[in-house]
Amino acid sequence: MKPIIFAALLCLAAPLPAMGAGADWSRYGGSADGTRSSTLTQITKDNVKSLAQAWTFEMDEGGDPQTHPLAIDGVVYAYTPSLKTIALDGATGKLLWTFDPGIAAKGAQRGLTWWSDGHDRRLFASCMHMLFALDPATGKPIESFGTHGHIDLRKGMGRDPDSFYLSLTTPGVIWKDMIITGFRTGESAPAAPGMIRAFDVHTGKLRWSFRTIPAPGQPGHGTWPADAWKTAGGANSWAGMVIDTARGIVYAPTGSAVNDFYGADRKGDNLYANSLLALDANTGKLLWHFQGMHHDILDRDFPSPPVLLTVKHDGRMVDAVAQPTKQGYLFVLDRVTGKPVFPVTETPVPQSDVPGEVSSPTQPVPALPKPFARQALNISNLTNRTEVAHQWALMRLNSFNSNGPFAPLKVSQSTVVMPGFDGGAEWGGSAADTKRGILYLNANDIAWTGALAPAAAAHSLGAATYQANCAPCHGPDRKGSPPAFPSLVKAVQFLSPDQITGMIHHGAGRMPAFTQIQGETLTALLQFLISGEDAGPPAKQEPGGAKPQPYRFTGYKKFLDPDGYPAVAPPWGTLNAIDLNTGDYLWRIPLGEYPELAAKGMVTGSENYGGPILTDAGLLFIGATIYDKKIRAFDASNGDLLWQATLPYAGNATPITYMAGGRQFVLIQADNARDRKAKQGAAYVAFALPQ
Ligand code: HEC
Repeated sequence: MKPIIFAALLCLAAPLPAMGAGADWSRYGGSADGTRSSTLTQITKDNVKSLAQAWTFEMDEGGDPQTHPLAIDGVVYAYTPSLKTIALDGATGKLLWTFDPGIAAKGAQRGLTWWSDGHDRRLFASCMHMLFALDPATGKPIESFGTHGHIDLRKGMGRDPDSFYLSLTTPGVIWKDMIITGFRTGESAPAAPGMIRAFDVHTGKLRWSFRTIPAPGQPGHGTWPADAWKTAGGANSWAGMVIDTARGIVYAPTGSAVNDFYGADRKGDNLYANSLLALDANTGKLLWHFQGMHHDILDRDFPSPPVLLTVKHDGRMVDAVAQPTKQGYLFVLDRVTGKPVFPVTETPVPQSDVPGEVSSPTQPVPALPKPFARQALNISNLTNRTEVAHQWALMRLNSFNSNGPFAPLKVSQSTVVMPGFDGGAEWGGSAADTKRGILYLNANDIAWTGALAPAAAAHSLGAATYQANCAPCHGPDRKGSPPAFPSLVKAVQFLSPDQITGMIHHGAGRMPAFTQIQGETLTALLQFLISGEDAGPPAKQEPGGAKPQPYRFTGYKKFLDPDGYPAVAPPWGTLNAIDLNTGDYLWRIPLGEYPELAAKGMVTGSENYGGPILTDAGLLFIGATIYDKKIRAFDASNGDLLWQATLPYAGNATPITYMAGGRQFVLIQADNARDRKAKQGAAYVAFALPQ
């Protein structure tokens, strides 16, 4: 048991539930320990089959906000796809207020942060790089916080704030009277240096900061070139943090260093990129770190918030932290010491043959639990959907470099990345039964491919800006890799220059914003997008401020068969229950369907984004699936499907559950951004038992 009284003494803020959420869902992930669990039991295994849609809040716009809302005193706080903050009556879905931050923006804004000391209450909402303190009653900014109610998170990094993109896509966490934040930044230079910072909830003043790219004198500085702390970017904590409120420790997962796929200018292990950091929540001092990928050149971010739970290991109770990864591992560490609960072995891995690159000779691999996604593509796990698809996939496989989960990319030959660039695990997070030490986790299980190519020397400003910033996703030929990465050759035929500029400055979904592309650089880029000609004003030494790299990434490509289905054998997505006391799987089922394949009796699972939540009634609720657009309730003890409903759009977000007007609601944000063939739109959909 947790020392609840001790926690309350340490914590000046109003006491929050130590284990799981109650009537309120007042924190991102449900509670400080990020277990996505709730003590509510009005909806039971017996009555869940009569769960029905209670209200829907439709928004007249598409987008991909991935929002996991908050619900406090029966009021739901959330975002619209264009990142306005909204408050809804939790019982009826009636709009109570809207806060328009005045910035045209789109993209992920996964949640909000609530702070209260019992009298004063603040709602922290973000839009791109702006963090706002709002009055929860009115949605009006609280003037005394920062500048007229907000702070600009790009400031105070020792770099020109206009030179990089930064967005607070996952909300900060509260410790006493501080809000602790990370951020998302670009995947190519120039990018913001990963900093984890604590701001005063009253004034917005910086209270402490921790550099994830260490300065001289800071441990880990030697794992980078000497000046990297001044110029390198990334190693940012974007997936969300959790707090051990009894001990005052904040756990922050970090992502890759920039550039993601070629690291010749960042030789070394690159601490504290791809790491789980345990920081003293009072001071930001590093207590311990665990790096899950040394000198990452495969974009293996720690993609999910960690989860705190207690497990029984070798007859001893261990307060543990579990960190899921994109490569399908679950690192289970002692929360106090950072020592692995199950052995982790530094394992020799294939080495890069790209000129200039120095890859890490070994990578950490846990003995248990076994990976929750397949680790390699070979003839035995190619698609068997049809004979034609299988033969096609075999032909493609023979042309690939397929060499396990750590195979570095090659120049001019595609390398299989499996699990794919979107995991394994993703940003939705996992749910945990802290009493039993069980983790519930959904995962993607498809192959992607990637390659490097010599960077074509671009002479003009337009072409150079394109190659440095856009080619990684839209390809050097602007044709993209549809449907995930649209063709810009096509886009310029139906989008106006203003609309394209809007995309560049605000981003959407997986596309980051490029706020730094302005003036003549913007004009030159637009001209290049339309003409495709390397002509016009000459390139500057550093297009978009970035140092030109000799190799560029040729694009994130899913390995799909000619009909557009994953070219690996199913399951393409799974839901897993893992006993972290033993490291064993309790159950594992395919998650999601392609309706047209399901109609033929094919159980495939599908890619899924957004996590599960668990209730004390033993129910596991999850949306996440893209193509069937369902929300489901499973029996947490055995994975049996107890209830499902079809949403108006895909539930690509993590649901919440809360009480309003005496009823237990299950609420999820839904949109169709990941299924471009489907009707675009977004809504919040709430379910409850009939009255
Ligand atoms: C990290 C990957 C990534 C990078 C880098 C990127 N984009 Fe995108 N882009 C996307 C994705 C994904 C979409 C589809 C977004 C959606 O609708 O969800 C997109 C959409 C677009 C669209 C709209 C296309 C349509 O069919 O609606 C335009 C225009 C665009 N990007 C331009 C650019 C330009 C110009 C750059 C470089 C300055 C760039 N992108 C960099 C991933 C990227």
